[in-house]
Amino acid sequence: MDVIRVVGGRPISGEVTVEGAKNSALKLMAASIMAPGVTTLQNVPNIADVHVMGKVLKRLGAKIKVASAHELVIDTSNVSKWETPYDLVAQMRASTAVLGPLIARFGRAVVAMPGGCNIGARKIDMHILGLEALGVHFEIDHGNIHASTPDGLHGAEVALEFASVGATENLMMASVAADGTTVIDNAAREPEIVDLANMLNEMGAKVRGAGSPRIEIEGVGVDALHPVEHRVIGDRIEAGTFLAAGAICGGPVTVRGFDPEHLGLVLKKMEAMDISIERGDDWCTARRDGPIRSVDIQTLPYPGFPTDMQAQTFSLLGLGDGTAIVTENIFENRFMFASELVRMGAQVTIEGHHAIVRGVPHYSGAEVRSTDLRGGAALVIAGLEADGYTTVSNIHHIDRGYERFVEKLQGLGADVARVTVEGTEE
Ligand code: EPZ
Repeated sequence: MDVIRVVGGRPISGEVTVEGAKNSALKLMAASIMAPGVTTLQNVPNIADVHVMGKVLKRLGAKIKVASAHELVIDTSNVSKWETPYDLVAQMRASTAVLGPLIARFGRAVVAMPGGCNIGARKIDMHILGLEALGVHFEIDHGNIHASTPDGLHGAEVALEFASVGATENLMMASVAADGTTVIDNAAREPEIVDLANMLNEMGAKVRGAGSPRIEIEGVGVDALHPVEHRVIGDRIEAGTFLAAGAICGGPVTVRGFDPEHLGLVLKKMEAMDISIERGDDWCTARRDGPIRSVDIQTLPYPGFPTDMQAQTFSLLGLGDGTAIVTENIFENRFMFASELVRMGAQVTIEGHHAIVRGVPHYSGAEVRSTDLRGGAALVIAGLEADGYTTVSNIHHIDRGYERFVEKLQGLGADVARVTVEGTEE
């Protein structure tokens, strides 16, 4: 079993470049189904979740070539299946992103119901409700969702009960093939949604308003789409993770390869915590000289504070000069890593969606377990500051979304290593 071992207390400074955004790349890969032919994606992160999405596409009949470390060439000419099996959906919930593209191309799909995961139930009721408005019929049986369009796909006005990222994406992709215009109200506004809309338009779709709460898609029919070459936007969450690493140990750490605009509120909150932030077009520098000021954060859909930066910021607030309240509004169970942080000396009281964090002067190294992707990264970040050793296990979670995480931290001066320890497999 591999673990990440950190010796804390070292100065962390220097430059690091992030990869393409995991939460965009996965959907762009799914969208390639909609245009038979060869789609080339650049700046694709080399992470476990991308490998799983690659398996999903291959299972459907696509051919994938890794042209270079971060360039995928996906040939979907011979995609002839529309079934995504449980074993892959269970590995990665984002496999449900093929639902919209399969319905667009084949008028039907069979996708396994995604199970829950460590951070929550991860339902897809809003995907289903929205697609039904477009004329999709669903039957759920034996854990699979059977989607069909007996009367074809037609445009509709869909108001999402919650600005769900996944539901917005599936609706956007399916409605490209609908007859007529679709409006998605209360749409998610994340930068990854805009990246997907941009690629769909490059493919010949007519999507307007992505990034705003109201997206309008004029159905062009899937035959109007052609495969393209597209570069994935930089990963704002990977960037925020390394900025937090710089902030916890002082820095300065400069992160390149992303748009700081995509981390608007995160950077503002870091400044409120007395972390100094310098912004460039595609880079950002974080440094800290004095104590971390305790500030409250609450996660909300973009442009609110991103839930994917909650754990990393929580690790900073654990060393705050006072008491902070962290409110998690997106997932029902995203404080699990906090119990591990308590093993490192954090003082935390969880009350439902709120965590009360009383800052402590320092963390102390301990053996901890990664509970989810971002929680695992947050524990490593805490280990950078802690005195003594911190060993983070269950690091397959981290491998899902961070490419060369240990190497990049080593590049910033961290005394961190990935070691194999005997003992039970994860
Ligand atoms: C995407 O998940 C991201 N994953 C998540 O990143 C991110 O945390 C999330 O958006 C919010 O920004 C990918 O893009 C692969 P949602 P998604 O639909 O699409 C509930 C990471 O760490 N909900 O906005 O699943 C759902 O249960 C991951 O990179 C319904 O109830 O997020 C959750 O509580 C973690 N019914 C909330 O809404 C639905 O039909 C947010 O879900 C859909 C969602």
